[in-house]
Amino acid sequence: MTAPILGIETTCDETSAAVLDERGTILSLVIHSQDVHRVYGGVVPELAARDHLRRIEPVVAAALREAGVERRELRAIAAAAAPGLIGALLVGVTWSRTAAFALGVPWVPVHHMEGHLFGPLLEDPAAVPPFVGLLVSGGHTMLLWVPEWGRYHLLGQTRDDAAGEAFDKVGKLLGLPYPGGPAIEAAARGGDPARYAFPRPMMRGKGGPAAPGAFDFSFSGLKTAVAQTVARLAEAGAVVEERPHLAASFQAAVLDVLAGRTVAAVEAVGCDRVLLGGGVSANRALRSRIRAEIGPDGRLFTGSPRVSLDNGAMIARAGQFRIEAGTFGGLGEAAASAPIPGMLPWKPEMRDSTLGDGPGSAARPSFN
Ligand code: KG4
Ligand code: ZN
Repeated sequence: MTAPILGIETTCDETSAAVLDERGTILSLVIHSQDVHRVYGGVVPELAARDHLRRIEPVVAAALREAGVERRELRAIAAAAAPGLIGALLVGVTWSRTAAFALGVPWVPVHHMEGHLFGPLLEDPAAVPPFVGLLVSGGHTMLLWVPEWGRYHLLGQTRDDAAGEAFDKVGKLLGLPYPGGPAIEAAARGGDPARYAFPRPMMRGKGGPAAPGAFDFSFSGLKTAVAQTVARLAEAGAVVEERPHLAASFQAAVLDVLAGRTVAAVEAVGCDRVLLGGGVSANRALRSRIRAEIGPDGRLFTGSPRVSLDNGAMIARAGQFRIEAGTFGGLGEAAASAPIPGMLPWKPEMRDSTLGDGPGSAARPSFN
């Protein structure tokens, strides 16, 4: 067995562990999705932390067993250290630091969103910079220009709700189970996306790519518009009947905004390679919409749901890169919020001048 690394993810409501070999191949990936939150319609932080505590040992044991790797064969342990629910993070961080100390191997703190950037690479060796990265999860919505691993120019982010949060809140309004994203996608298949004209916030990108906030997102107004429509329909007892149309119309509005911003970013940076990461990237309508928008010459990198939703494999893979890079970018203790290591501003004059060595520049992890 060659230099296996263990990756641990406990930022929110998934307890996950994965073992990768030194080439970044997944030897095992175990994901326990907590269901204790379902009755509350959202994640209860204290319950999440307690469930991580109960599950971390058996989840890691299962990952090692599936990989056929003994604990003492591990060469490094990576864990998501930020951002997330602090009680949940503390379980993964404390457990993994203790295990790394006991085994005498490096402990590697990883930023959860950098992990999402590495998700598609687990399945597709071509999913390397340069690319425009759209990260859409339950807690974040970010558009990044990534000329090379470790350099993340922030084009825009959400000013209020994250895309996944909007799916979850609207799912709740429509009486769908938590999490709302997959439930809305399923409900939307039978609906008319044009039935309700929900707002497309900030679609006009006031003032072109140079304007401050040109690539930012906002989803709270859209959520309020859905809430008002649902309240009106509820008086007539028509919510259940209209649900597919509400879901389809809401999803169409989110997709218009996400795809519109992504295509504007592609044009602004002059690179038509796009990577989608985070839980919302599991949405098939989003994938096909962006694929259609960037055209046949553009490349779209996405992973299957197991590497797109929260998982330990992306943490292990980003950890391999961090070992190679020789810096954890200031990450250490568990932190509820922290910038992605290597996060930089973006300016329109950077177009074509920020490229690294191109697609071959992906760092190869190595262990001595
Ligand atoms: O990345 P992730 O697993 O966890 C966070 O880091 O937050 O993303 C979870 C989010 C949830 O908000 C969930 O509703 C959303 O991803 N999601 C989806 C889909 N599957 C998961 N949203 C839209 N369509 C989906 N198919
Ligand atoms: Zn995530």
